[in-house]
Amino acid sequence: MDFKTNKSFAEFICLFVFLLLFAGTSGASEIYDFNPDWMFMQSDHQLVPKDYKEHKSIWAGAKAATSDAVWPFSSLKFDESNFRPVNLPHDWAVEDGFYPDENGEQGYRKRGWGYYRKRFFVPSSWKGKRVEIQFGGIATHSTFWVNQMLFHHNYSGYNTITMDITPALMYGRDNVIAVEVNAAVSEGWWYEGAGIYRDVKLIVSNQVRIPTEDGIMVNAEVKIDGWDVNGYVNLVNDGVSDLAPSLDIEILDPEGRKVESKRFLPTLPANQTVRIPYSIRVYTPKTWSPDSPSLYKFKATLKNEARVFDEKTVNFGFRVFKFDFTNGFSINSKPIKIKGVCNHQDHAGVGVAVPAAIEEFRIKKLKEMGANAYRCAHNPPSENILDLCDKYGLLVIDENRAFNVGPDWLDYVRAQVRRDRHHPSIIAWSIFNEEPLQGEYRGQEIARVLVNAIKSEDPTRPVIAAMNGGLFSENSARNVLDIVGLNYQYDQIDSFHAAYPSTPVILTEGASAFETRGEYTTDPEKLTCSAYDVNAASWGTTHRKDWEAVLKRRFLSGTFVWTGFDYHGEPTPYNNKFPANSSYFGCMDLCGFPKTAFYIRQAQWLDKPILQAAPHWNQADKDGQEIDVFCATNVDEVSFILNGKMLGTFKVDPVEMLTQKVVYDPGTLLLIGRKDGQEVIRTQLETTGKPVGLKLIPDRNDIKSDGRDAVPVTVCAVDAAGRIVPDAKIPIEFEITGPGRNLGVGNGDPTCTLSEKADSRPLFNGYAQIIVQSQAGKKEPIVITAKSEGLNPATCILKSVSAPARPVVNGFVNQEITIDEWRISQSTATKPELFSEEAGSPIQGLAPAQLGSELSLKPGAWVLYYTSFKLPKSITENGGSLCFRNMTGRGSIHVNGELVHERKSSTAGDVVVHLKEGLESIEINVRMQPDSKGHILLGDIVYIIPEKLKKNAGK
Ligand code: GAL
Repeated sequence: MDFKTNKSFAEFICLFVFLLLFAGTSGASEIYDFNPDWMFMQSDHQLVPKDYKEHKSIWAGAKAATSDAVWPFSSLKFDESNFRPVNLPHDWAVEDGFYPDENGEQGYRKRGWGYYRKRFFVPSSWKGKRVEIQFGGIATHSTFWVNQMLFHHNYSGYNTITMDITPALMYGRDNVIAVEVNAAVSEGWWYEGAGIYRDVKLIVSNQVRIPTEDGIMVNAEVKIDGWDVNGYVNLVNDGVSDLAPSLDIEILDPEGRKVESKRFLPTLPANQTVRIPYSIRVYTPKTWSPDSPSLYKFKATLKNEARVFDEKTVNFGFRVFKFDFTNGFSINSKPIKIKGVCNHQDHAGVGVAVPAAIEEFRIKKLKEMGANAYRCAHNPPSENILDLCDKYGLLVIDENRAFNVGPDWLDYVRAQVRRDRHHPSIIAWSIFNEEPLQGEYRGQEIARVLVNAIKSEDPTRPVIAAMNGGLFSENSARNVLDIVGLNYQYDQIDSFHAAYPSTPVILTEGASAFETRGEYTTDPEKLTCSAYDVNAASWGTTHRKDWEAVLKRRFLSGTFVWTGFDYHGEPTPYNNKFPANSSYFGCMDLCGFPKTAFYIRQAQWLDKPILQAAPHWNQADKDGQEIDVFCATNVDEVSFILNGKMLGTFKVDPVEMLTQKVVYDPGTLLLIGRKDGQEVIRTQLETTGKPVGLKLIPDRNDIKSDGRDAVPVTVCAVDAAGRIVPDAKIPIEFEITGPGRNLGVGNGDPTCTLSEKADSRPLFNGYAQIIVQSQAGKKEPIVITAKSEGLNPATCILKSVSAPARPVVNGFVNQEITIDEWRISQSTATKPELFSEEAGSPIQGLAPAQLGSELSLKPGAWVLYYTSFKLPKSITENGGSLCFRNMTGRGSIHVNGELVHERKSSTAGDVVVHLKEGLESIEINVRMQPDSKGHILLGDIVYIIPEKLKKNAGK
């Protein structure tokens, strides 16, 4: 990308913005994707100095927009030579390797510090608008600068951070947002990743608007003869005149049809926020439930006759639920057991920077397993996860991170509730997980403040906490909770219920059983856990016993299994046993490949016959030996037929299911499941031959060409008969042609320390995964090839399908630097002398210059612009160009005293001047005379473009 395209790009964005904001009736807030084109650098230690001592730095640090005196990281002219371009979401911890000396609970990854900058053009047309930037989540602490102004600090890795940056922006010019990320701190005992790992948006609204935070409160309340949708809409008028707008509320059904509407005619005085409470009756809506998640939309439009000021839509649903202390949980009056899973947020190959499409893949897998609930352990989730739980029907416990009522943390909780409360999937807010203070007075009081803060933002939902201990003490968080969540403590469920019979109870964590997918022995040397559902943490139990505990008790609302998926870090039971680096708890592994636990849960949770057996039938080393065959099943009995020989029909225990000794003989083990004497399901285990080829199985065959969509592709080995070889552990190389990129790879082996950002990955017990992402606007098919020496390669094709265009704010990643500190002389009738600070010219003669605005001068008059600066290393080494954008007027440009350009015409245009390699600092003088109308404009932005880097940009 050269300067000219860059400039026209900036203009294009301007035009695009203009069209979006003013075309037709649209005046609504615009949400821009702000993910692309950041520059990033990682460091093992903090780089922004905090303890500067001499006067100039202290003074500069105390003033707005001068912090580059300390470290120019947040200034436009900062030398980005040591930074590299990244697109967000980004997790730098997963990009790096494993370090045995690092913290195993965080997956033995280096975290440290990261520095992000994005330079972007802010069009003049945004003047008078509200511009907010919103970071979905940054791991872990972050400090923000906007155009050298220290703007904000954030002390959690999980909250959405919204900042109104309107007054700090420079309009019609380049701007810079810089973020220092401190991931040397941690908030969890699991892998938390590092960096700006969730989406970033830029929200541009009118002065008259529905605010981004706390804009809409919507709740559907059941009544005898229908439902009342009630809540409020906040309206903001930051303008100077009082207004009398209209507020139209519409309720749209799942098909997008309007079912109800109401108009309000508020007065909206200047500089005020007005809250409009509403209540709208809806008679026979479709209800939302896990089985039938019907989603409605609430649309609010703020306008007057002339224009739409703002328009916002949120999803909501009609459902009524209850945690009953005797009967457990019910939704829409139907009692159901909560079949929940706890999850951390990361996935193989991508760490915590999980694309929305992979989050969707995961949610669908959980539904396939039969889960109907999701606990966001132990932190607020991405907004996308909640949208997906709404869409697919998973009940959610939305959890707070810090058990802390300091002002920052209380703000985070409030903002979390305001952001999330419209989601029908959420059935409880959780205020903590296993806090040491849970059973004492301090804990009770902290809990009380958190509960009150939550209820003031959402009085409609119960508050829960995941307790482990402190259940029975006099002062206990229990006293202020609506529901008590028990983490394990199976032996205290009944005594707790007996002691507090009117407190609803649920297992906020159950099981904590260990399995390695496809391994059938527990071997502390090999760091494996057998996948027979026989190993559990001392505080937990097996998957089978966990569900038994739920089924046995009517009052117990259900369980949240620890966990749905494996996650990086917390490699219990092999903590501190490198190379075990990811968890063993999941019903699925890190890639989402099912373990035996997945089928056990299916058998427990799905209302259809399930029969799945373990182990696989490639057990050559067990030939002639008796082995256990475990059936994850919900049938009454199973017949075993080995190589045509009936071994017997065996009763299935409703809790333990079926484990049967069989003398291993390679071939086919046919299993026939019966209910009430009738065959309802059959399955077979087959001994396969050696791998002869590979097979690629994409999760779907098309991919949106929006640069965001991503598809997990499974690779496995097949024998001559085309059967998947379940114990294959062979190396695989991937190749992608067409507009796809490899986002990361995994295989579900918790001891694997190979890079997750690689073009290769060995199969682990038959399977590996590559995540392929599209490139924006590129429509060609993506072809993925998997190869392994001596085997037939496999190919699969992802067809690109178009996706609706998303407004994007791009940044400048080609090492351009804005020179924004200029000085200007008084106008003179005669040609001014060149200025040189180096040579001792008196600086007093020059005043600070504002670039980008036109100056009016008498015809024939002169002015002199001057600047000097040390060149960044990249320019000294590579050379570069100075570009004077949109220069108007005649004149001459001098670099280090030498005339480098003479401008004879006075019409507006760009001027590019080349700089040689080897220059370390420069002084620039620009002598100028006005055009025929008496105008001068010195290009609004001036760039330096290192030639070699520019050529490499985008590769
Ligand atoms: C729980 C804890 C979880 C996880 C789990 C492992 O006590 O809440 O975060 O560590 O143990 O069994």
